[in-house]
Amino acid sequence: MAIKTSLVYNIVLWQLHLLLLLSCHDLNLANAAGGKWDLLMPNIGISAMHMQLLNNDRVIMYDRTDFGASNIPLPDGKCRNNPKELALKVDCTAHSVEYDVSTNSIRPLMVQTDVWCSSGSATSDGSLVQTGGFNDGKLMVRTFNPCNTCDWQEMGDGLVQSRWYSTNHILPDGSQIIIGGRDAFNYEFFPKTASTNNVFSLPFLQQTNVPREENNLYPFVFLNVDGNLFIFTNDRAILLDYTTNTIVKTYPQIPGGDPRNYPSTGSAVLLPLKNLRSQTVFVQAEVLVCGGAPKGSYLRATKGDFVGALNTCGRITITDPNPQWTMETMPLPRTMGDMVILPNGNVLIVNGAATGTAGWQIARNPVLSPVIYRPDNPSDSRFEVQTPNAIPRMYHSTAVLLRDGRVLVGGSNPNELYNFTGVVFPTELSLEAFSPSYLDAEFANLRPQIISPDSHLKFTYGQRVDIRFTALGLLNRDSIKVTIVAPGFNTHSNTMNQRMLVLPRGIVRQVGRFVYEVSCVFPNSGKLAPPGYYLLFVVHQDIPSEAIWVRVN
Ligand SMILES: *[C@@H]1O[C@H](CO)[C@@H](O)[C@H](O)[C@H]1NC(C)=O
Repeated sequence: MAIKTSLVYNIVLWQLHLLLLLSCHDLNLANAAGGKWDLLMPNIGISAMHMQLLNNDRVIMYDRTDFGASNIPLPDGKCRNNPKELALKVDCTAHSVEYDVSTNSIRPLMVQTDVWCSSGSATSDGSLVQTGGFNDGKLMVRTFNPCNTCDWQEMGDGLVQSRWYSTNHILPDGSQIIIGGRDAFNYEFFPKTASTNNVFSLPFLQQTNVPREENNLYPFVFLNVDGNLFIFTNDRAILLDYTTNTIVKTYPQIPGGDPRNYPSTGSAVLLPLKNLRSQTVFVQAEVLVCGGAPKGSYLRATKGDFVGALNTCGRITITDPNPQWTMETMPLPRTMGDMVILPNGNVLIVNGAATGTAGWQIARNPVLSPVIYRPDNPSDSRFEVQTPNAIPRMYHSTAVLLRDGRVLVGGSNPNELYNFTGVVFPTELSLEAFSPSYLDAEFANLRPQIISPDSHLKFTYGQRVDIRFTALGLLNRDSIKVTIVAPGFNTHSNTMNQRMLVLPRGIVRQVGRFVYEVSCVFPNSGKLAPPGYYLLFVVHQDIPSEAIWVRVN
């Protein structure tokens, strides 16, 4: 009896303790933190407004050519001589750099024409194609091949329509589609064939365009598993068969009807694609759209009235016959956030502001704490606030996942030029990394390390691969996941092409002391995984290995 009583007493005490803990948690959400921040470089010479990780572990970044002199000279005394330039006709500074992750250093690159607010996509052979921009850059196509000495190549007026604030996506055949942009209610392809040497009208982009506010630029575009394109802009979405220019599905308006795209900028991801095992079983695809600004916020912000950002996310199964939005509430409101899919399938929401919108100096209250969203958790325990950083990253900030699981964060320039003083939020030239708590030293024993295959091997659709890895601690075999991530082109809170697939796997076999092997199958088509380079991670109890690069085609 006495034992029982004390047990009950202990349970009651424990519950009280838990209650206390929980209420502290609620009061100090911002302190319920995980992850850590490191300043990588205080000054990379430019403001990282656009970023793309390439398969040599270098990140290509650029700001704008019409920005005046940057803080980094072009190499070898080179100067850009451009009579059409709006700022400096002769500019001997760089507006693009390559960041080398392994040496934490940068190399200046040279762009000829204005890349400001442009868009891009990695290609199936691992280079970067970047399209459009402003002024002399609005019809341009530029490419960058990853190599130690490579630089931008300008391919001239490769676009039919001027593109500024448009979105690119790689397609199953390896070409890319370029959708929308300011006053561009259509799409086109790159490279072009005889039958695609034109633009294809998309009235949806006009219908979602709010006069004087827009709220539909940089549309969120995801390749659905059926090969059609999910296009979300402003407050709604369609499913487009781009091969016939037909809308095959119209999704309901997001509840509340508030805008989610530029300048009322929210962010979006295609959640990790799972259950790819069978070709006949239907693969489900879900999209998550988070943050943005209430209707009318942009015009009010231009008059100095900074409205509170949205704190909601909408989640929708885009493959459902009767798709419906489920709304969720973030712990913090946010506009201009970036959503980064982490190696374990969770989503990091980082950067942005709590009031105002995108635009010159019209946001306030930077949101310094990232939030992690766990898509597979019960709906009341998906969000977790992370450790805040010290540097506001608002309009024109960026975030991309690195091969080692860190998230590279840069940019923020809400000013018309390089303004470092006399403004509320100075132009930011620094680079930081956010290390989610899965990188904490305490998880070293859980962390898998990939032994084989080697990095940069080629795999065909449907190919089986044996992955060997070590893990020093006790292995929970059921928790092993193998994920592949297509690195995206990030600008303006939009990460074009960002995509994760969880590979179907067999049983995990032990093949040596601390050595394990698991057999996986690559997706069976370009509709699931467009051709190109992916980061492949082995994940154990949510703790990821460093990735290897795999080329899928
Ligand atoms: C930003 O810098 C430019 C060039 O130095 C200057 O002309 C402009 O007044 C500055 N803007 C603000 C808001 O200080």
